[in-house]
Amino acid sequence: MILILDFGSQYTQLIARRLRELEIYAEILPCTAKAADILARRPEGIILSGGPASVHKAGAPRIEPELLQAGIPVLGICYGLQLLVHMHGGRVAPAARREYGHAQVQVLEDDPLFEGLPREMKVWMSHGDGAESLGNGFRVIAKTETAPFAAIADPERRWYGVQFHPEVVHTPQGARLLENFARRICLFKDRWTMAGELSHSIQRLREQVGGGKVVCALSGGVDSSVAAALLFRAIGANLHCIYVDHGLGREGDVERMDGLAESLSGQVRGSRLQLKMVDASKKFLSRLAGVTDPEKKRKIIGKTFIDIFEAEAKRIKGVEFLAQGTLYPDVIESVSVHGPSAVIKSHHNVGGLPKKMRLKLVEPLRFLFKDEVRRLGREMGLPAAILGAHPFPGPGLAIRVLGPVTPEALALVRKADAIVQQEFRDAGWYDKVWQAFAVLLPVKSVGVMGDERTHQPVVALRVVESVDGMTADWTRAPYDLLARISSRITSEVRGVNRVVLDISSKPPSTIEWE
Ligand code: XMP
Repeated sequence: MILILDFGSQYTQLIARRLRELEIYAEILPCTAKAADILARRPEGIILSGGPASVHKAGAPRIEPELLQAGIPVLGICYGLQLLVHMHGGRVAPAARREYGHAQVQVLEDDPLFEGLPREMKVWMSHGDGAESLGNGFRVIAKTETAPFAAIADPERRWYGVQFHPEVVHTPQGARLLENFARRICLFKDRWTMAGELSHSIQRLREQVGGGKVVCALSGGVDSSVAAALLFRAIGANLHCIYVDHGLGREGDVERMDGLAESLSGQVRGSRLQLKMVDASKKFLSRLAGVTDPEKKRKIIGKTFIDIFEAEAKRIKGVEFLAQGTLYPDVIESVSVHGPSAVIKSHHNVGGLPKKMRLKLVEPLRFLFKDEVRRLGREMGLPAAILGAHPFPGPGLAIRVLGPVTPEALALVRKADAIVQQEFRDAGWYDKVWQAFAVLLPVKSVGVMGDERTHQPVVALRVVESVDGMTADWTRAPYDLLARISSRITSEVRGVNRVVLDISSKPPSTIEWE
């Protein structure tokens, strides 16, 4: 693998993702990792990421010199370059002015790092410091108008540095540069493919779990479905899945779950997926009765889910492990140089399960990014309806019924939502947006139907674009699509006489209304 040491750049994860897209397996460790531990992983190459610090200031993060003595090729990006220079007798100082944005890089020398790349190319710069002189062994191999040392090399020792960011899309040919480093300088031969990752994951799970039993909460979302599919392939009948039907799901959720179970069962000969479907909708509804506060709703749902899941899991004799859909970004975040991120939302996870249940954790997805989870699911032949589905919140439609959650209100929002989903699919817009859904407002307005005056609740339509759900913009969906949805909801969902469009971005709004 190529190991990336994180010095706190906002782009560090991108370096790993770019490499993996090139079928080069990469992992990230914090820059504080010990040289001995890093070398023990036997990386074929090491990348030092960018970071906000200044190497010439006291307390700036460093690496242990032993790391550089191991004969492993090193590529320093931005702060990484400055660190290499600083550690070898060169001088790094604040640049005359902070450079942020596009720059034109000029290649000065033929080097494997630039193989297949033009002599001039567009790159992305984002730095406050710059090298002023190079230390022992380095020479300059590329420059820009303002950065005399845009790329440096010590080809003997196979140490490289670039001041720009090859990992971002604003450096259009950056992926080729990373590929050159891995394939031509580190001589990295392996191809990391989903087929390979699949067999590797299965083997890893078998080693961890042995003959033990695993319990897994299946929600029908991408992560839990792929995690369950992997575990099922690894341990077959020793996997026990529990689907808690809280009655707050979308139209077709239970059928989709059946479809998933069916498709999984076909994958391991002689073994059917053990899936317990628990209809707990009455319990959820009765505990939610009369509750209007959004946080209270979420807490009640979370707690009820745990109660039911725990009771069901206890019925399975001899369970040792609990499956969790932890993804690689969560793993990196928890060990990052910044410490665990302050913005983690507790309501997004089913917190509290493992501690109370005294089970060992098994995390089949802990080395994967979200899009890789989808690709792995595709590799296993999971239904497209599951892999391509928009995100759906754990507390379900309860947080899309503003005000008290009643069976009647749920029925209205469920029906309106089904229309939204269907129209977006039919128009070819479903895959173009992050989410599209209906929200039932606790507001009534006056309408007219036939000759009669009506006084009924309003449905809001929420359609957003986003990369990761952290920020979002409202989608400028075609008017005729919006018009069809509006007219279908007001005519087919009896009890709703008005549809409005939410035109707020996140921030300051959130995607869900509660
Ligand atoms: P917000 O509303 O915070 O949502 O802008 C960001 C993304 O997260 C989804 N979301 C949830 N997902 N459990 C989940 O698994 C939850 O409790 C939850 N709440 C919000 C939301 O749909 C959006 O994609």
